[in-house]
Amino acid sequence: MGSGWLADAVMYEIYPQSFADSDGDGIGDLRGVIDRLDHIASLGVDTIWFNPCFASPFFDAGYDVSDYLRVAPRYGTNDDLVELVAAAKQRGIRVVLDLVVGHTSIEHAWFQRELHATGPDPDGDRYVWREHLPQRTWSSDLPGTPGWVASPGPREGFYLKNFYDEQPALNFGWTHLPDDEPWRDPVDGPGPRRNRQMLRDVLDFWLSRGVAGFRVDMAFSLVKDDRDPTACVQATTELWREIRQWLDDAHPDAVLIPEGPEPRMGTDLAFDADFFLVILAEHATLFDNHAAGVLPFQPPQPPFFDAEGAGSTSTFLAGWAAAKQVDPHRPVILSTADHDFNRLACGPRTAEQLGAALTFLFTWGSVPCLYYGDEIGMRYLPGMPDVEGAICNPAYNRAGCRTPMQWDDGPNAGFSTADPAQLYLPIDPDPRRPTVAAQQDDPASTLNLVRRLIALRRAEPALGGRTPTTVLHAGYPFTYRRGDSHLVVVNPRREPAVVELAEAAGAQVLLGSGVVIDGQRVQVDGFGHAVLALPLAPVSAGSS
Ligand code: NOJ
Repeated sequence: MGSGWLADAVMYEIYPQSFADSDGDGIGDLRGVIDRLDHIASLGVDTIWFNPCFASPFFDAGYDVSDYLRVAPRYGTNDDLVELVAAAKQRGIRVVLDLVVGHTSIEHAWFQRELHATGPDPDGDRYVWREHLPQRTWSSDLPGTPGWVASPGPREGFYLKNFYDEQPALNFGWTHLPDDEPWRDPVDGPGPRRNRQMLRDVLDFWLSRGVAGFRVDMAFSLVKDDRDPTACVQATTELWREIRQWLDDAHPDAVLIPEGPEPRMGTDLAFDADFFLVILAEHATLFDNHAAGVLPFQPPQPPFFDAEGAGSTSTFLAGWAAAKQVDPHRPVILSTADHDFNRLACGPRTAEQLGAALTFLFTWGSVPCLYYGDEIGMRYLPGMPDVEGAICNPAYNRAGCRTPMQWDDGPNAGFSTADPAQLYLPIDPDPRRPTVAAQQDDPASTLNLVRRLIALRRAEPALGGRTPTTVLHAGYPFTYRRGDSHLVVVNPRREPAVVELAEAAGAQVLLGSGVVIDGQRVQVDGFGHAVLALPLAPVSAGSS
């Protein structure tokens, strides 16, 4: 299992299209990231996670890879990535890439070869092909979408997709093998075996170039079964165990991060963390105010981090308790936002309200992941065009959280020198939009709050991912103890909130605003937030 460094990490997710454009073509690139590494380092984060940066026709923003071993030319070259990894390392920052192995692009040479073949590959098909459409529905395998796509090429029949039609599923075999469906391969069939080997080859290629690990897209979508969902998850888990065992020898420091929680199948775990995704209930009930749309799989309810103060922490806390009960020491990643839905600053949530959310996100016992732009409170932009498959569900548009980073007051907010019409997505047109430059030297800015929170988390190990988190008050103000030494109080609502806590007596504010301790009484202004040192714990120097 990795070396354990992930438990102490503070991550930063970069959507490469939108971070920094060094060559003026309107799309971000790796050189742009290299040029901005000092900004990233100034935040105090130590792990960058890139959304896919490999060759791709970008039907799904790069989650449709056409060559796993080549950086997309629009981002630069493999050498640029190696240079970036080295330059990041000099600043104490690791680089994690996105591994999309449930499917490739239709433009991948492997798919093109099978598409132009007259029948199955004698060495085993890398994709899943069948001659006729099935009688029964496949909805349990691919919710809400027909899983089979009519072949657009010389090969007759249908191929199985994993997400969009342009993302054919790689063949990792099936757990259910009925006699009348001879096209299904077992998990150890020749095609699935080739793909398993490919997985190692891709991992090895990038890990040997200094990459620290991978976030694995749709990690549990590999082995298929339309009848027994548990069986295919079990088989997929075994596949990842095999990879982990190989990694433990070949690249013992490398981490694997799943998209979502890793299913517990009674065997050793293969991944280094669970991920409380933005679109899952634990995160959504805290932050989703529905201003970016309505997630079809989450019944809308008021979020806890909201001025109205009508939300609850119960779903989050139940998920957290369940995760920690099974594996108390296992890292759980919690993002500010990500490339698949909204941002913290979404709809009516103002900059003033972000302090409580950020204080929670950087002091909870999870591994925080800061989504680019959230450090300055960039907002989700409604009504953005459907660029590169951003609208995968009519109920919400992912483009609003993928707009260009706002660096300064220069043209295109310092993101690019391109003509505005050439930009990947429009810049926030609001003249008061936040920028790094405007917040840089303002001690009260969101940017400097983020920096102080991360610095405090580093200075006080009790605030990190290895120390127990004890909830003292689950409502407003949300109050919890970290280890025996720190107290965190956040009041995301507009109304002030008060709680009486024996633990609070003598606590001293290390960082924050709007929190007053009077004996056991904790009084918090609307939107107030603070990290406090409990008596007997050393008060950290340099805090404000
Ligand atoms: C999850 C990724 O986060 C998302 O952006 C992508 O569209 C799908 N997987 C398909 O790869």
